[in-house]
Amino acid sequence: MTSSQQPLAPLRILRLVASPNAEDSESLKLSQQILFALASQAGRRGIQLTDLDLNSLAPVDAPYAQALANQRVVIASGQEGTLSRSDELIDQLQACDVLLIATPMHNYSVPAPLKMWIDQVVRVGKTFLGTAKGKVGSLTDRPVYVAIACGGYISGQHARQPDFLRPYLSAVLATIGLNHVYYFTVEGTAKGVESLNTGRETGYGEVQTFFGRDSHGVDQVCSPL
Ligand SMILES: Cc1cc2nc3c(=O)[nH]c(=O)nc-3n(C[C@H](O)[C@H](O)[C@H](O)COP(=O)(O)O)c2cc1C
Repeated sequence: MTSSQQPLAPLRILRLVASPNAEDSESLKLSQQILFALASQAGRRGIQLTDLDLNSLAPVDAPYAQALANQRVVIASGQEGTLSRSDELIDQLQACDVLLIATPMHNYSVPAPLKMWIDQVVRVGKTFLGTAKGKVGSLTDRPVYVAIACGGYISGQHARQPDFLRPYLSAVLATIGLNHVYYFTVEGTAKGVESLNTGRETGYGEVQTFFGRDSHGVDQVCSPL
């Protein structure tokens, strides 16, 4: 079998779903547009999607908090709780080619379920190293696409609120080595039907423009398998 005849490995996408709104979630719908675009770019290679509903995560427990605060604490092997869950979440993240995050804005920042995921994957000695020069990420870089829905506005002339979500997410993902983060938004979802429709039109249009014409598409930033 020549290399051109070998089956192509699918593009592995891990999608994090942070909204409590299930199928009605605007950020989930926006992420669906990104998925369509990624599937189209992947072509014959296809995609393999893993969905993780972050609402199923529990807050970190005491053994985990103590282990992160004092790395000399001895961890009993096979221990249940946040440490083993954290290992699983990190393995799952490492196994994907593309990370897709569907999230609402909650109080100018990330919602609690997304913060819980962050607290379990940003782990000293595992996904970043503490060095004299600061924190250095250990993960192989890969593209991260973030679909945000917000009731008000965080861009354009109508923006009247702080946006800690995007700067925070970029900073914390860079801590673990993920430096290519691209944001898409559906804004004004709480401002009535007309605003919602305009917000969708703008957000979905930005996805099409980015994946249709932008040079930062998957092929450019994702190493081939
Ligand atoms: C607890 C909570 C806090 C919120 N905080 C904000 C906010 O700070 N700014 C904003 O524009 N919208 C805020 N919203 C509105 C949501 O961002 C908006 O309804 C969004 O469309 C939800 O997305 P989803 O359907 O994907 O969950 C908040 C909603 C909730 C439930």
